Amino acid sequence: MIGRTVFCFVSLALALPLFGPIVHAGAGDIDTADDARSSAAVSREHNPYTGDAAAIEEGKSLWRKTGCYACHGGVAEGGVGPSLIDDKWVFRPTDKTLYKAISEGRRGTTMKAWSKKLNPDEIWKIIAYIRSLYQGDPNKIIW
Ligand code: HEC
Repeated sequence: MIGRTVFCFVSLALALPLFGPIVHAGAGDIDTADDARSSAAVSREHNPYTGDAAAIEEGKSLWRKTGCYACHGGVAEGGVGPSLIDDKWVFRPTDKTLYKAISEGRRGTTMKAWSKKLNPDEIWKIIAYIRSLYQGDPNKIIW
C-alpha cells in the first residue's frame, strides 16, 4: 500500500514539469560530474570541454549553424575575420578572453555579441572546437 502510494507520487512528480526541480534536486548527488561541469561553464573563466571529443563535435556543428565560418573560414583558417588556429591573436588567447570575445563581441569591429544566440555551454563547446583546430606552436598553448 505504502509502496504503491510512493510509486504514484513518483510518477506524478516525473509527469509534471512543475515538480522537475524537486526531482532534480533529489538526484543531485548522482550527477555530480555534470554539476561540476555546468558550474565551471557558468564561471566563464575556464573551458570545461577542452579535449572532449563529443563536445568538439557539437562545437563544430554550432560553428557551422551559427555562421562563424562566414568570417573566420570553415576550419577557422581566417577570412574577413582573423584566423583562430595560428599564433596571431588580437589579445592573449586565454579561455576567458575567447569566451568574452564570442559572448560580448568586439566593439568597433564586425565581431558581434553572440550571447543571445549561444548559451554558455554552447560557447565553451565552440571554443573546444577552435582549440582542436590549433596549428600554432604547442609551446604557446596557455589553455
Ligand atoms: C561578420 C564577421 C564575423 C562573424 C560572423 C564572426 N566573427 Fe569572430 N571576429 C570577427 C572579427 C573581425 C574579429 C576581430 C576582432 C578584433 O579585432 O578584436 C573577430 C574575433 C573573434 C575572436 C577573437 C580573436 C582574437 O584574436 O582575439 C574569436 C574567438 C571569434 N571571433 C570567434 C567567433 C565565433 C565563435 C563566431 C561565431 C559564433 C564568430 N567569431 C563570428 C568577425 C566575425
